[in-house]
Amino acid sequence: MKSQLNVNSKYKLHSGYEMPVIGYGVSSPPPRHIDRNTFSPAAIAEGVTLEALGAGYRLVDSAVSYRNERACSFAIKRSGVPRSEVFFTTKIPPNLMGYEKTLQAVETSLKETEQEYFDLILLHAPFGGREARLGSWKALIECQKAGKIRSIGVSNFNIHHLTELEEHINSGIGGKIDVAQYELHPWLARLDIVEWLQKRGVVIQANSPLASGTKVNDLLLAPLAEKYCKTGAQILIRWSLQMGFVPLPKTVTSTRIKENANVFDFEISPEDMHTLETGEYVPSTWDPTVDKS
Ligand SMILES: NC(=O)c1ccc[n+]([C@@H]2O[C@H](COP(=O)([O-])OP(=O)(O)OC[C@H]3O[C@@H](n4cnc5c(N)ncnc54)[C@H](OP(=O)(O)O)[C@@H]3O)[C@@H](O)[C@H]2O)c1
Repeated sequence: MKSQLNVNSKYKLHSGYEMPVIGYGVSSPPPRHIDRNTFSPAAIAEGVTLEALGAGYRLVDSAVSYRNERACSFAIKRSGVPRSEVFFTTKIPPNLMGYEKTLQAVETSLKETEQEYFDLILLHAPFGGREARLGSWKALIECQKAGKIRSIGVSNFNIHHLTELEEHINSGIGGKIDVAQYELHPWLARLDIVEWLQKRGVVIQANSPLASGTKVNDLLLAPLAEKYCKTGAQILIRWSLQMGFVPLPKTVTSTRIKENANVFDFEISPEDMHTLETGEYVPSTWDPTVDKS
C-alpha cells in the first residue's frame, strides 16, 4: 500500500478536501552563509518555495510566527501552478489565541497573503488556557463555514488538550479535526498521541522529520541508508511516510529540495522499520505538548 505512494498522492480529510502526502516546510531563517544584506529572509523564503513547487511539492507549510506567509503566497502565485493544486497552510500563533483574536488573525493572514482562502489553518500550540483554545476553535469553524479556510486542525496538542477539544466538539460546537501537526521522528514517535489521532481519522503531519537536521548522520540510519542506497534524510522521510504521516522537511539547499522528495522509489521493510523504534523522547525544537494551562 505505502509503496504505491508517489509525490502526487493525497490523503482525504474529514472536510472532504485532499492533502498531499509530503509537504515543504518553510520555517527557519536562511543559513548564515547567505548574505542577508543581499537577500532578505523573505526573498529567500519566496525563492526556495518557488524551487520546491518546481520540484513537485504541492503542500507549503507556513505560519504567522515564521513571518513568511506572504513570501510563500507570492511564490505560489509566481509558480504558475494552479492555486487549486497547491495546499497552503498557515497557523494561528500562541499570542493570537482566543475567539476574537483568532478571527482577526485569519483576516490578517488572508489580507497579508492576498489569498481568498487557506487550505489549512492550525492552532500552532495549545498555550493560553482552555477558554482561549476553545474560543480559537470556534473562530476556525466560523471561518471554515465562511469558505475562508478549507480544513482546520491543531499542532502540538497533547492528549489532554485533544480530549478537551473533543468534548467541546461533541457538546455541540461542532467542527472536525482534519489535521494535527507534531514534531515526529524515530527519536520522538509520540505513539500515544498518534494512536489517539489515527483512531479518529485525523491525518498527522510530521514537522521537523529530520529532527531539525540533527539526526541525518545518526549511526542508527547508516545500515538502512547503505541497504536502500538512500541518504539518512531520505530514510527518515520514508519512515515518516510509512508511519502514515505527512512529512514536512525543510531545506534551503537546492539539491536537498529534490533529494527529500525522492523517497517514493523504495520501501523500508517491516523488520527495518523495527530497528528505528528507539523509544526515546528527544525534541529538537520547542515542545508545547508539555503545556499544562
Ligand atoms: N508546528 C510546529 O510547532 C513546528 C515546529 C517546527 C517546525 N515546523 C515545520 O516543520 C518544518 C521542518 O522543520 P525543521 O525546519 O525544524 O526541521 P527539519 O525539516 O527536520 O530539518 C531541517 C534541517 O535539516 C537540514 N536538511 C534538510 N534536508 C537535508 C538533507 N537532505 N540532508 C542533510 N540535511 C538536511 C536543513 O538544512 P538546510 O536548510 O541548510 O539545507 C535544516 O538545517 C518547518 O519548516 C515548519 O514548516 C513546525
